[in-house]
Amino acid sequence: YPIVHPTQEPWSFAGVFGKFDTAQLQRGYQVYKEVCSACHSMNLMSFRNLGQPGGPHFSEAQVKALAATFQVQDGPNDAGDMFERAARPSDRFPAPFPNPEAAAAANNGKAPPDLSLMGKARAVERGFPWFLLDIFTQYQEGGPDYIHGLLTGYKEPPAGTEVGPGLHYNVGFGSGSAIAMAPPLSDGQVTYSDGTPETVDQYSRDVAAFLMWTAEPHLDARKRIGFQVIIFLIVFAGLLYFAKKKIWSKVA
Ligand code: HEM
Repeated sequence: YPIVHPTQEPWSFAGVFGKFDTAQLQRGYQVYKEVCSACHSMNLMSFRNLGQPGGPHFSEAQVKALAATFQVQDGPNDAGDMFERAARPSDRFPAPFPNPEAAAAANNGKAPPDLSLMGKARAVERGFPWFLLDIFTQYQEGGPDYIHGLLTGYKEPPAGTEVGPGLHYNVGFGSGSAIAMAPPLSDGQVTYSDGTPETVDQYSRDVAAFLMWTAEPHLDARKRIGFQVIIFLIVFAGLLYFAKKKIWSKVA
Protein backbone atom coordinates (compact mmCIF):
# COMPACT_ATOMS: atom_id res chain seq x y z
CA TYR A 1 0.00 0.00 0.00
CA PRO A 2 1.11 3.62 -0.41
CA ILE A 3 3.61 4.60 2.22
CA VAL A 4 3.37 8.03 3.83
CA HIS A 5 6.80 9.21 4.83
CA PRO A 6 7.07 9.72 8.58
CA THR A 7 9.65 12.12 9.95
CA GLN A 8 13.08 10.66 10.57
CA GLU A 9 13.63 10.77 14.33
CA PRO A 10 17.06 11.11 15.99
CA TRP A 11 17.17 7.60 17.52
CA SER A 12 19.99 6.81 19.95
CA PHE A 13 20.40 3.44 18.22
CA ALA A 14 20.91 4.91 14.75
CA GLY A 15 24.21 4.66 12.91
CA VAL A 16 27.29 2.48 13.21
CA PHE A 17 27.88 3.43 16.88
CA GLY A 18 24.17 3.41 17.83
CA LYS A 19 23.12 2.07 21.23
CA PHE A 20 19.76 1.69 22.92
CA ASP A 21 19.04 4.24 25.65
CA THR A 22 18.25 2.09 28.70
CA ALA A 23 16.06 4.73 30.38
CA GLN A 24 14.08 5.18 27.16
CA LEU A 25 13.51 1.40 26.86
CA GLN A 26 12.28 1.32 30.46
CA ARG A 27 9.82 4.15 29.73
CA GLY A 28 8.79 2.43 26.49
CA TYR A 29 8.06 -0.75 28.42
CA GLN A 30 5.90 1.27 30.82
CA VAL A 31 3.89 2.64 27.87
CA TYR A 32 3.48 -0.88 26.41
CA LYS A 33 2.36 -2.23 29.78
CA GLU A 34 -0.02 0.58 30.71
CA VAL A 35 -1.51 1.22 27.27
CA CYS A 36 -0.74 -1.16 24.39
CA SER A 37 -0.92 -4.46 26.33
CA ALA A 38 -4.67 -3.93 26.74
CA CYS A 39 -5.09 -4.96 23.10
CA HIS A 40 -1.76 -6.11 21.65
CA SER A 41 0.06 -9.34 22.48
CA MET A 42 3.85 -9.65 22.51
CA ASN A 43 4.08 -13.42 22.15
CA LEU A 44 7.80 -13.78 21.52
CA MET A 45 8.88 -11.92 24.65
CA SER A 46 9.43 -13.45 28.10
CA PHE A 47 9.57 -11.33 31.24
CA ARG A 48 13.15 -12.43 31.84
CA ASN A 49 14.14 -10.63 28.61
CA LEU A 50 13.42 -7.33 30.40
CA GLY A 51 16.52 -7.94 32.54
CA GLN A 52 18.86 -8.57 29.61
CA PRO A 53 21.85 -6.29 29.09
CA GLY A 54 21.46 -4.24 25.92
CA GLY A 55 17.74 -3.94 26.70
CA PRO A 56 15.70 -2.22 29.43
CA HIS A 57 18.09 -4.02 31.82
CA PHE A 58 15.75 -4.07 34.84
CA SER A 59 17.25 -5.72 37.94
CA GLU A 60 16.26 -9.29 38.81
CA ALA A 61 13.99 -8.10 41.61
CA GLN A 62 12.33 -5.57 39.28
CA VAL A 63 11.75 -8.24 36.62
CA LYS A 64 10.08 -10.48 39.21
CA ALA A 65 7.86 -7.61 40.37
CA LEU A 66 6.98 -6.59 36.78
CA ALA A 67 6.10 -10.21 35.88
CA ALA A 68 3.90 -10.57 38.95
CA THR A 69 1.63 -7.76 37.69
CA PHE A 70 0.42 -10.12 34.91
CA GLN A 71 -1.75 -13.23 35.30
CA VAL A 72 -0.99 -16.29 33.17
CA GLN A 73 -2.80 -19.59 32.54
CA ASP A 74 -1.13 -22.67 34.00
CA GLY A 75 -2.09 -26.28 34.53
CA PRO A 76 -3.50 -28.78 34.45
CA ASN A 77 -3.08 -29.27 38.22
CA ASP A 78 -3.55 -32.55 40.11
CA ALA A 79 -7.31 -32.24 39.70
CA GLY A 80 -6.87 -31.76 35.93
CA ASP A 81 -7.96 -28.12 35.96
CA MET A 82 -6.37 -25.09 34.35
CA PHE A 83 -5.74 -22.22 36.75
CA GLU A 84 -4.44 -18.66 36.76
CA ARG A 85 -1.38 -17.51 38.66
CA ALA A 86 0.91 -14.50 38.79
CA ALA A 87 3.50 -14.59 35.99
CA ARG A 88 7.15 -15.48 36.68
CA PRO A 89 10.24 -14.20 34.81
CA SER A 90 10.36 -17.44 32.76
CA ASP A 91 6.82 -16.91 31.38
CA ARG A 92 6.02 -15.36 28.02
CA PHE A 93 3.89 -12.21 28.01
CA PRO A 94 0.24 -13.32 28.09
CA ALA A 95 -2.00 -12.17 25.22
CA PRO A 96 -4.93 -9.90 26.12
CA PHE A 97 -7.35 -12.03 24.06
CA PRO A 98 -7.65 -15.84 24.00
CA ASN A 99 -7.56 -16.05 20.17
CA PRO A 100 -7.54 -13.82 17.04
CA GLU A 101 -11.31 -14.16 16.60
CA ALA A 102 -11.98 -12.75 20.08
CA ALA A 103 -9.40 -10.00 19.45
CA ALA A 104 -11.10 -9.04 16.19
CA ALA A 105 -14.57 -9.16 17.73
CA ALA A 106 -13.48 -6.66 20.40
CA ASN A 107 -11.91 -4.30 17.84
CA ASN A 108 -14.38 -3.70 15.02
CA GLY A 109 -13.40 -6.87 13.19
CA LYS A 110 -9.64 -6.15 13.06
CA ALA A 111 -7.38 -8.11 15.40
CA PRO A 112 -4.60 -5.94 16.88
CA PRO A 113 -1.36 -7.46 15.53
CA ASP A 114 1.29 -8.96 17.80
CA LEU A 115 3.91 -6.33 18.62
CA SER A 116 6.99 -8.55 19.25
CA LEU A 117 8.50 -7.94 15.81
CA MET A 118 6.59 -4.80 14.83
CA GLY A 119 9.78 -2.68 14.95
CA LYS A 120 11.06 -4.71 12.00
CA ALA A 121 7.78 -5.69 10.37
CA ARG A 122 7.08 -2.13 9.28
CA ALA A 123 9.50 0.07 7.38
CA VAL A 124 9.75 3.19 5.33
CA GLU A 125 10.39 2.99 1.62
CA ARG A 126 13.31 5.34 1.02
CA GLY A 127 13.95 4.87 -2.69
CA PHE A 128 17.11 5.52 -4.71
CA PRO A 129 19.90 6.19 -3.73
CA TRP A 130 19.21 5.43 -0.08
CA PHE A 131 18.56 1.73 -0.44
CA LEU A 132 22.09 1.36 -1.80
CA LEU A 133 23.68 3.38 1.02
CA ASP A 134 21.55 2.15 3.93
CA ILE A 135 23.46 -1.11 4.16
CA PHE A 136 26.68 0.82 4.92
CA THR A 137 25.20 3.37 7.32
CA GLN A 138 23.29 0.60 9.14
CA TYR A 139 19.99 2.42 8.54
CA GLN A 140 17.16 0.38 9.94
CA GLU A 141 15.13 2.92 11.85
CA GLY A 142 12.25 2.82 9.38
CA GLY A 143 10.22 0.61 11.75
CA PRO A 144 10.40 2.91 14.79
CA ASP A 145 9.93 5.97 12.54
CA TYR A 146 6.77 4.32 11.20
CA ILE A 147 5.43 3.45 14.67
CA HIS A 148 6.14 6.96 15.96
CA GLY A 149 4.52 8.43 12.83
CA LEU A 150 1.47 6.18 13.30
CA LEU A 151 0.93 6.99 16.97
CA THR A 152 1.29 10.74 16.35
CA GLY A 153 -0.59 10.56 13.02
CA TYR A 154 -4.22 10.89 14.16
CA LYS A 155 -5.63 14.00 12.44
CA GLU A 156 -8.98 15.43 11.43
CA PRO A 157 -9.86 13.93 8.04
CA PRO A 158 -9.65 16.46 5.20
CA ALA A 159 -12.99 17.84 4.00
CA GLY A 160 -14.75 15.36 1.75
CA THR A 161 -12.98 12.28 3.14
CA GLU A 162 -15.37 9.68 4.54
CA VAL A 163 -14.05 7.55 7.41
CA GLY A 164 -16.01 4.33 7.97
CA PRO A 165 -17.68 3.41 11.28
CA GLY A 166 -15.21 2.38 13.98
CA LEU A 167 -12.27 3.68 11.95
CA HIS A 168 -9.98 6.62 12.67
CA TYR A 169 -8.23 8.86 10.20
CA ASN A 170 -4.45 8.57 10.50
CA VAL A 171 -1.87 10.07 8.14
CA GLY A 172 0.77 7.54 9.27
CA PHE A 173 -1.28 4.47 8.31
CA GLY A 174 -0.73 3.06 4.87
CA SER A 175 -3.93 1.39 3.81
CA GLY A 176 -6.18 4.32 2.99
CA SER A 177 -5.44 6.22 6.20
CA ALA A 178 -8.38 4.76 8.15
CA ILE A 179 -7.24 2.54 11.02
CA ALA A 180 -9.29 0.38 13.36
CA MET A 181 -7.09 1.39 16.32
CA ALA A 182 -8.55 4.34 18.25
CA PRO A 183 -5.92 6.93 19.27
CA PRO A 184 -4.33 4.98 22.16
CA LEU A 185 -2.30 7.83 23.70
CA SER A 186 -3.09 11.23 25.15
CA ASP A 187 -0.91 13.81 26.93
CA GLY A 188 -0.32 13.02 30.61
CA GLN A 189 -1.71 9.46 30.33
CA VAL A 190 1.39 7.63 31.58
CA THR A 191 3.24 9.01 34.62
CA TYR A 192 7.03 9.00 34.19
CA SER A 193 9.18 9.03 37.30
CA ASP A 194 12.28 10.56 35.67
CA GLY A 195 10.83 13.96 34.67
CA THR A 196 10.62 13.11 30.94
CA PRO A 197 7.83 15.13 29.23
CA GLU A 198 4.50 13.31 29.37
CA THR A 199 3.38 14.00 25.82
CA VAL A 200 1.99 11.84 23.03
CA ASP A 201 5.11 12.59 20.99
CA GLN A 202 7.44 11.41 23.79
CA TYR A 203 5.36 8.31 24.62
CA SER A 204 5.32 7.36 20.94
CA ARG A 205 9.06 7.78 20.66
CA ASP A 206 9.71 5.71 23.79
CA VAL A 207 7.36 2.85 22.89
CA ALA A 208 8.73 2.81 19.31
CA ALA A 209 12.27 2.47 20.69
CA PHE A 210 11.06 -0.32 23.00
CA LEU A 211 9.47 -2.16 20.06
CA MET A 212 12.70 -1.80 18.09
CA TRP A 213 14.48 -3.51 20.96
CA THR A 214 11.93 -6.36 21.18
CA ALA A 215 12.39 -6.91 17.42
CA GLU A 216 16.21 -6.63 17.50
CA PRO A 217 17.34 -7.39 21.08
CA HIS A 218 21.02 -7.82 20.22
CA LEU A 219 21.41 -4.61 18.21
CA ASP A 220 24.01 -3.12 20.60
CA ALA A 221 26.23 -6.21 20.52
CA ARG A 222 25.77 -6.67 16.78
CA LYS A 223 26.90 -3.12 16.02
CA ARG A 224 29.85 -3.30 18.43
CA ILE A 225 31.11 -6.64 17.11
CA GLY A 226 30.50 -5.57 13.51
CA PHE A 227 32.74 -2.56 14.01
CA GLN A 228 35.47 -4.65 15.65
CA VAL A 229 35.32 -7.14 12.80
CA ILE A 230 35.74 -4.39 10.20
CA ILE A 231 38.77 -2.96 12.08
CA PHE A 232 40.25 -6.46 12.29
CA LEU A 233 39.72 -7.08 8.58
CA ILE A 234 41.40 -3.76 7.67
CA VAL A 235 44.46 -4.57 9.80
CA PHE A 236 44.52 -8.14 8.47
CA ALA A 237 44.32 -6.92 4.87
CA GLY A 238 47.36 -4.67 5.55
CA LEU A 239 49.32 -7.58 7.05
CA LEU A 240 48.49 -9.82 4.10
CA TYR A 241 49.63 -7.16 1.69
CA PHE A 242 53.05 -6.75 3.35
CA ALA A 243 53.44 -10.51 3.83
CA LYS A 244 52.74 -11.02 0.15
CA LYS A 245 55.32 -8.35 -0.78
CA LYS A 246 57.96 -9.98 1.38
CA ILE A 247 57.29 -13.54 0.18
CA TRP A 248 57.38 -12.60 -3.50
CA SER A 249 60.24 -10.05 -3.22
CA LYS A 250 62.86 -12.56 -4.48
CA VAL A 251 60.99 -13.41 -7.66
CA ALA A 252 62.33 -11.24 -10.42
C1 HEM B 1 -2.76 -1.83 14.93
C2 HEM B 1 0.76 -0.09 17.83
C3 HEM B 1 -2.47 0.47 21.42
C4 HEM B 1 -5.86 -1.73 18.70
C5 HEM B 1 -1.53 -1.39 15.41
C6 HEM B 1 -0.28 -1.34 14.64
C7 HEM B 1 0.68 -0.85 15.45
C8 HEM B 1 0.08 -0.58 16.73
C9 HEM B 1 2.16 -0.62 15.09
C10 HEM B 1 -0.10 -1.83 13.20
C11 HEM B 1 -0.46 -0.80 12.18
C12 HEM B 1 -0.14 -1.33 10.81
O1 HEM B 1 -0.72 -2.36 10.39
O2 HEM B 1 0.73 -0.76 10.14
C13 HEM B 1 0.18 0.22 19.04
C14 HEM B 1 0.90 0.79 20.16
C15 HEM B 1 -0.01 0.98 21.15
C16 HEM B 1 -1.30 0.48 20.68
C17 HEM B 1 2.40 1.08 20.17
C18 HEM B 1 0.21 1.60 22.51
C19 HEM B 1 0.77 2.83 22.61
C20 HEM B 1 -3.67 -0.11 21.03
C21 HEM B 1 -4.84 -0.23 21.85
C22 HEM B 1 -5.79 -0.84 21.06
C23 HEM B 1 -5.21 -1.11 19.76
C24 HEM B 1 -4.95 0.23 23.30
C25 HEM B 1 -7.23 -1.24 21.42
C26 HEM B 1 -8.05 -0.41 22.08
C27 HEM B 1 -5.31 -1.92 17.44
C28 HEM B 1 -6.04 -2.49 16.32
C29 HEM B 1 -5.15 -2.52 15.22
C30 HEM B 1 -3.88 -1.98 15.70
C31 HEM B 1 -7.49 -2.97 16.34
C32 HEM B 1 -5.44 -3.01 13.79
C33 HEM B 1 -5.77 -1.78 12.99
C34 HEM B 1 -6.09 -2.01 11.52
O3 HEM B 1 -5.49 -2.90 10.90
O4 HEM B 1 -6.96 -1.24 11.00
N1 HEM B 1 -1.27 -0.91 16.68
N2 HEM B 1 -1.13 0.04 19.40
N3 HEM B 1 -3.91 -0.65 19.77
N4 HEM B 1 -4.02 -1.63 17.05
FE1 HEM B 1 -2.62 -0.76 18.21
